[in-house]
Amino acid sequence: MASLSDSSFAAISEYFHRVSGIRLTASKRALVLSRLQRLALDQGIGDLDEFVRLLVKGQLPAGLQVSVVDKLTTNETYFFREPAHFEDLRRRIAERQGSEEFRIWSAASSSGEEAYSIAMVLADKLGSAAWRIHGTDLSTAVVESARQGLYSLERARNVPESYLKRFCLRGEGPYEGQLLIDRSLRERVEFQCANLMKELPALPMFDVIFLRNVLIYFENGPKADIVRRVIGRLKPEGVLYTGHAESLAGLNLPLVSRAPAVYQHA
Ligand SMILES: C[S@@+](CC[C@H](N)C(=O)[O-])C[C@H]1O[C@@H](n2cnc3c(N)ncnc32)[C@H](O)[C@@H]1O
Repeated sequence: MASLSDSSFAAISEYFHRVSGIRLTASKRALVLSRLQRLALDQGIGDLDEFVRLLVKGQLPAGLQVSVVDKLTTNETYFFREPAHFEDLRRRIAERQGSEEFRIWSAASSSGEEAYSIAMVLADKLGSAAWRIHGTDLSTAVVESARQGLYSLERARNVPESYLKRFCLRGEGPYEGQLLIDRSLRERVEFQCANLMKELPALPMFDVIFLRNVLIYFENGPKADIVRRVIGRLKPEGVLYTGHAESLAGLNLPLVSRAPAVYQHA
């Protein structure tokens, strides 16, 4: 059984904080150990302390550094998570005026369930009108899987039956037990890597931004920086959704709360 010394845990925490902005607390130690063990063994390195030493000195291949970040991020997500936001979105679309392209950003999109849930609502409510969704995430692994739009059927239990019929293809043969998001939706959803802690890639202005269940990993300073950076891409009348378990209280942000976890520019 591999072990991780106190100083190696401190070093990997520091490294991950530098790269992602997220602090790994002591409670994450067993998780770090189990997630890095496989990667280290694949490199023929049985000693995790040695693996961490090479990592922080930048002496591991670049691709492997990306894999470490992929392993240490928490990507839990599911379709139609926190349904109140989808109700709010439906209502706003119904009240919307004008025919400009309607754009939504899933700003920590993980494996894509959030972005495709939004796409189903837009396809339902806006049909063939102009709309587009961008999904971004720090982890290259989840961005790649989001692009595929292929999920196990079990993960689709919150997808309304009518949406399953209209927007998902049930896998057959080798794809039995899986569903594929219909091409008409996939074509309107674009995924790319972006680190919310760093300068953002070129992105358009958005009507709605989903920034959910990612702020929870940050302390107040970086959390406020992320929100400021993200709302720089929000249109004047736009809406920001955060996770219901996340608080923006005390961050002194130029936002007003419209409902729980629903914000607009002040
Ligand atoms: C728990 S998932 C939330 C997914 C989705 N928004 C939801 O609410 O279901 C958090 C995601 O944030 C991403 N993440 C963590 N730090 C990030 C950063 N600095 N920049 C961009 N994404 C980040 C992780 O890779 C992970 O996929």
